Amino acid sequence: MPTVSVELRGEFDNSYEINVGCSLMDTVVADLCERKYGHTPVIICDENTRELFGLEMSEKLALKDIEALLLTVPAGENSKSLDVFRSLLEAMLEAGINRQDVVVALGGGVVGDLSGYVAGSYMRGINFVQVPTTLLSQVDSSVGGKVAVNISGGKNYCGMFYQPRHVYSDITALDTLPEREILSGLGEVVKHGFICSRELVEYLHDNAEKVLKLDRSVMSEIVARCCEIKADVVSRDEKEGGVRRILNYGHTVGHAIETFSGYEMAHGECVAYGMRIVSRACNRDKMLSDEDLALHEAVMDRLGMATARLDIKPDEIMELMKRDKKVKEGSVVVVGLESLGKAVIREDFPLELIRAELENIAE
Ligand SMILES: NC(=O)c1ccc[n+]([C@@H]2O[C@H](COP(=O)([O-])OP(=O)(O)OC[C@H]3O[C@@H](n4cnc5c(N)ncnc54)[C@H](O)[C@@H]3O)[C@@H](O)[C@H]2O)c1
Ligand SMILES: [Zn+2]
Repeated sequence: MPTVSVELRGEFDNSYEINVGCSLMDTVVADLCERKYGHTPVIICDENTRELFGLEMSEKLALKDIEALLLTVPAGENSKSLDVFRSLLEAMLEAGINRQDVVVALGGGVVGDLSGYVAGSYMRGINFVQVPTTLLSQVDSSVGGKVAVNISGGKNYCGMFYQPRHVYSDITALDTLPEREILSGLGEVVKHGFICSRELVEYLHDNAEKVLKLDRSVMSEIVARCCEIKADVVSRDEKEGGVRRILNYGHTVGHAIETFSGYEMAHGECVAYGMRIVSRACNRDKMLSDEDLALHEAVMDRLGMATARLDIKPDEIMELMKRDKKVKEGSVVVVGLESLGKAVIREDFPLELIRAELENIAE
């Protein structure tokens, strides 16, 4: 089973391991029975992951005489709210949960971000482990320790850095994931290749069919590789000031498209469009070679990502980009590519090239 180490040895040692493999739910149960990370497990899931995994997990624990507290939130982004956060804390207090216990985040990025913030806040912090069940949460949100809820006017504006003690990425869990969610996760997967690993880009290109069929060994390989890449970036910059910003490749344009769509389009899908646009602009700017752009286009074509024209207004997208929270003193920071596998942060990127590419992709 591939294991990825996330090395975070700053003021405190926050390092942890990520297991990637098939049928890991039994490993989670076994570790909880051994009380590896805490006494009573507080399993937090959403309505879907409760039916798919949560009920079974708590039944298996009960057979071993472990009474887990199973808490369920509605599925969807709206659960990343202060109201839901508070109701979880209160339910835990009512059940007598204390600092010796452990929060288990069982679900996608919404459950992961919310549960991590709950774990980080409850009695000033109790242990938590992540069991990410969407592709996006396995390759992205479960690595790096950013946990948060949304407040009106600001997504992820209320949160902290709080690292899990362990992550279990079960590839088998992806079997039930809707296609749209798979594609959204794949947006972040190819991003990791584009910014850090030409080898991953080539692997995705050569194995695209197997990826789309969720071939177990190919998916294990990909998830582990993405975790390694993100872990490496994060360990060089735990709290995001420098190199970690390269993870935003495709995101400045992507977020603007996401906002423009009124959040109708999936995040990864918008990032995919963002990457198409920025890579083409980098090629126009003579940063990225024709050969590399051709492979960038080919891998996205093969995975069926961001292939259709978009119903957008380029001027509005440009305005939204300038309002992004990652904009520094009025200048739009663009993560560009110098080559496949090498990202660079640019504060002087010619924005008119991005505008031109938005125009080219608009319906
Ligand atoms: N912390 C970070 O660094 C970070 C990074 C990227 C994204 N995020 C956050 O992640 C969130 C998005 O995560 P997401 O895309 O996983 O969304 P999600 O958690 O809402 O999951 C998407 C949908 O899939 C369902 N689902 C989950 N697992 C399933 C399974 N195995 N089978 C069938 N259905 C399943 C969920 O119930 C939900 O309806 C956003 O809130 C975003 O801000 C955080
Ligand atoms: Zn993203």
